[in-house]
Amino acid sequence: MNHEKVERSINLMSVLIVVVISIGGLVEIVPLMASSATTEPYAGVRPYPALQLAGRDIYVREGCYGCHSQQIRPFRSETERYGPYSVAGEFVYDRPFQFGSKRTGPDLARVGKRYSDEWHRIHLTQPKELVPDSNMPAYPWLAKAMVDGELVARKMRALQRIGDPYTDDEIASAATAVEGRTELDALVAYLQNLGTVRSAR
Ligand code: HEC
Repeated sequence: MNHEKVERSINLMSVLIVVVISIGGLVEIVPLMASSATTEPYAGVRPYPALQLAGRDIYVREGCYGCHSQQIRPFRSETERYGPYSVAGEFVYDRPFQFGSKRTGPDLARVGKRYSDEWHRIHLTQPKELVPDSNMPAYPWLAKAMVDGELVARKMRALQRIGDPYTDDEIASAATAVEGRTELDALVAYLQNLGTVRSAR
């Protein structure tokens, strides 16, 4: 009887939907805020050094997340293929995180050190040279664009303000650290670090 009343009033139904979703959301989200497993870095995880930070932003700019996830789920089929499953503490310095959900290409959460730098350079410039059937786009412009050191330093300063433990020295030397490096160098440095902290089986 009561149910029928709800079903016949879209206003009442909307209010109740909001109430139910809010309670459900709070129950899921609030405990995570307090849990150290999700707020503290996994042992050995550090904020991205200048070159990798620049590479991460190129990853985001180029939309790599549209085809690649960065989250290994705790299932045997995934851990056999990609390595140890991902844990929240690995991503505390990822703003925003790059979990993704679309896997046109393989998951990249543990791709670091799987290939040589040279492999990545060739692959990103023209994937078909290494994987003839690949439908991954080529990114030839990355090798021609330089990383802007001042911009990287400013980003590190902003991240420091919101709590990432960068030292002033790291920020001061950011521009020198990326001097003369291309966007391709930065992206490869980022990829080569992905998942390496927790990759040992
Ligand atoms: C249109 C979808 C698509 C986009 C966009 C894309 N990729 Fe891929 N990627 C693939 C596919 C498919 C493969 C598997 C074939 C291959 O190795 O080329 C792949 C493979 C890879 C691999 C090798 C992974 C492994 O474990 O063998 C890396 C690394 C990679 N991509 C990085 C990137 C980066 C970085 C970007 C953004 C600059 C990017 N991809 C954008 C589809 C894509």
